Amino acid sequence: MESDDSLELKDRVKRLEAELVCCRKKVDELEKEHCYSGFLIEKALDGITVCSIKKDTMEITFSLWNDRMSEITGFTMADVNEKGILNCFFRDTRQKKKARQRIRTMINNRVFTRDEWSCQSKDGRTRVLSVSPSIINENEVSVNILAIIADMTRIKEMNQQLFQAEKLSSIGKMISGIAHEINNPLTGIIGFSEILLGHSSLPESIRENLMLIFSESLRARKIVNDLLIFARRHSPEKSLCRINDIVADVISLISCELERKCIRIDTYYEHKIPLLVLGDNHQLHQVFLNIVNNAVDALLEKKGERRLRVRTDWVKNRVRVVIADNGHGMDQKTLDRIFDPFFTTKVPGEGTGLGLSISYGIVKEHRGKIYVKSTPGNGTRFAVEIPLAGKENDAVCRDDTDSDECMEGKGALPERLKGKRVLVVDDEEIIRRLLSSFLQKCGMAVETAKNGVEGLKKIKSGEYDLILSDFAMPEVDGRRIFEELERTSPHLINRLVFMSGDVRDRTRDFFDETGVECLQKPFELARLTELLERRL
Ligand SMILES: Nc1ncnc2c1ncn2[C@@H]1O[C@H](COP(=O)(O)OP(=O)(O)OP(=O)(O)O)[C@@H](O)[C@H]1O
Ligand SMILES: [Mg+2]
Repeated sequence: MESDDSLELKDRVKRLEAELVCCRKKVDELEKEHCYSGFLIEKALDGITVCSIKKDTMEITFSLWNDRMSEITGFTMADVNEKGILNCFFRDTRQKKKARQRIRTMINNRVFTRDEWSCQSKDGRTRVLSVSPSIINENEVSVNILAIIADMTRIKEMNQQLFQAEKLSSIGKMISGIAHEINNPLTGIIGFSEILLGHSSLPESIRENLMLIFSESLRARKIVNDLLIFARRHSPEKSLCRINDIVADVISLISCELERKCIRIDTYYEHKIPLLVLGDNHQLHQVFLNIVNNAVDALLEKKGERRLRVRTDWVKNRVRVVIADNGHGMDQKTLDRIFDPFFTTKVPGEGTGLGLSISYGIVKEHRGKIYVKSTPGNGTRFAVEIPLAGKENDAVCRDDTDSDECMEGKGALPERLKGKRVLVVDDEEIIRRLLSSFLQKCGMAVETAKNGVEGLKKIKSGEYDLILSDFAMPEVDGRRIFEELERTSPHLINRLVFMSGDVRDRTRDFFDETGVECLQKPFELARLTELLERRL
């Protein structure tokens, strides 16, 4: 028979064993929980750290530094504990001092709010971190802090780009507004100097000065157009262009650079057909120059032979220009983004990332396409295709810079146009005077209206062979005139031609949708003559 003591002992052992099982279970659970929290911390998309900060020296020691934190900064916990986080994050002594002061103020004033820190990662790149600190506990000597850290660098960059894009867009709007204002007086100056130059009895000294006024006003027009190209608000000045000439110009422009950089160039220009496109010489030049410049940049790191191949030919009804290099090429990720505005892989200061996005816009405006093929390490091939110009475009084939040719055409209108009735509607007096003086000289019967209201009245009461109307006018503008004619006298719509210095997309879309021809201000009289011959 067992004694009471032994029974009690057995009982206690049993209870202790049960307690032990219970404790083991709890330890297991806690371990699991711990592992799970550790797992979560390591899986977190943001950096998570725990550190202890000494109140007197501001010395910081980390006891937690998750993987994401190492990913963002490039530093491990061992790095920051060994060298000190401020030494890791800030190479500049002044910045280091400032950061220490910021931490001291935070601890002393008990302000633990989310804050932005700009620091350097291990590879020297600037990272913008959003730090959310909170106190875990503290004692006389130190404070323990949990900090959640989010990498804001990309978001900051995107905001910056957006800001740039908005800035560019408002510059664009401002430029197109200014261009609009300048285009009216410029049309007057160009037109009147042309008329005066047409007088055969002009003394030579006056003719020379007038010629200067004329050529300088053409230069001013070019400057306005260049500004519009910069702001991407330039409506292409369409004329028949020879693609071979444009490409050859680009190559000759950079030939010295190619030689200096030891780049061998192979060119092939197709001459079986003239490769004419209806386009803007200046803009197309910009497209090819940008693609060639990119190719040159891609070849600079190339160790072996550096080759650039440029070829023009045609496929079906399109001109094709191929520019290929054997440079570093691009991976798919880069290829996907090359036409995005501000996308660049070049170091700051060497590329804005605007080149291809502008080129893409220009090619699209010319109803063309850009194709790219690239293999990392093997090179890149760009192909630009633009519709060949058909016969109907022959009439606009002219050389912009050859002002003498424009002069000759002036006043020599065919007999059949004499006596034709033209209505000029424009709120700018200089344009009304210029056009009536020129058209009368050509033997046409001209009437003018100084605004849209008067214009509409005259259109309804008279029979005009041609109505030349400004587009942007107060109250009744070109759009209203069009709508009114469409409603009341649709047969007159094909006698309507707008004149406009407005190059906004909205206005261009209106001309495209309605099919009403528009004479882009400022224009030379030769262009007006061409229009009269074609339309009357
Ligand atoms: N031929 C090429 N080979 C390799 N990469 C290219 C080539 N052409 C373009 N790229 C890539 O496309 C990016 C965008 O080109 P884009 O011309 O738009 O801008 P950028 O050349 O960087 O700057 P910029 O505004 O001065 O032209 C380049 O940064 C480069 O990464
Ligand atoms: Mg470029």
